[in-house]
Amino acid sequence: MTLVPDRTSMVPPGPAAISGDDYRDVLGRFASGPVIIAADTESGPVGFTCQSFFSVSLDPPLVAISVRRGSTTWEQIKTVGRLSVSVLSDEQHDLAQRFGRATADKLAGVGWTPGTGGPQLDGALAHLSCTVESVNDAGDHYVVIGRVTDLDARHGHPLLFFRGRFGRFHPRPTSDPTVDASGEREGGHTGWGSAAVTRRGVNRAPAEVCGAVVPA
Ligand SMILES: Cc1cc2nc3c(=O)[nH]c(=O)nc-3n(C[C@H](O)[C@H](O)[C@H](O)COP(=O)(O)O)c2cc1C
Repeated sequence: MTLVPDRTSMVPPGPAAISGDDYRDVLGRFASGPVIIAADTESGPVGFTCQSFFSVSLDPPLVAISVRRGSTTWEQIKTVGRLSVSVLSDEQHDLAQRFGRATADKLAGVGWTPGTGGPQLDGALAHLSCTVESVNDAGDHYVVIGRVTDLDARHGHPLLFFRGRFGRFHPRPTSDPTVDASGEREGGHTGWGSAAVTRRGVNRAPAEVCGAVVPA
């Protein structure tokens, strides 16, 4: 008798069975928080909207983005080797749309501050500065790994993207006394365990800094 299941009977249908429409419909049910990826290039500041952004590693601090092959903005950012991430607040859906189109001069008229990774959008919930660690082929996209060199955050609510629409996050009621009425957790940052990452927000504007950033 063997305890190993017969894997041939568990083989799912191959990729040919998955249509683009089905893929988009199913994956669109994974809610994400759009960010703006930006850089200061020789031809000026550039940026694009990206929902495929996620935390990869705490030590060293790494994040990842998935970038469509053929993105002209990415081709420009790649040459710089540094980028900034602005995590959008729920008031910034217009920016997500603006930076999601292939137009020139997306940062014209938009409030931003220079950061070590690139332009950081005013009013964003969080900013990260990164150096590009690696660019990996992944089908019709690249998976870009960034090493976080600097980060800050402020109070507020995130913008969400779900099934092609923008929306807001509604926190569930909690009896946790460290969470205030707006859903923010009071207290200090969780430790990042890496002296290489500077937390500018901590020194720059203590009153604006969020409490512990706790994964959902
Ligand atoms: C909500 C939203 C999420 C997006 N997420 C991504 C993404 O994860 N990766 C990506 O490459 N493009 C993403 N895009 C599309 C890019 O923002 C868009 O292709 C780019 O800005 C077009 O300009 P470019 O071709 O000049 O780079 C997203 C667009 C929107 C509106």
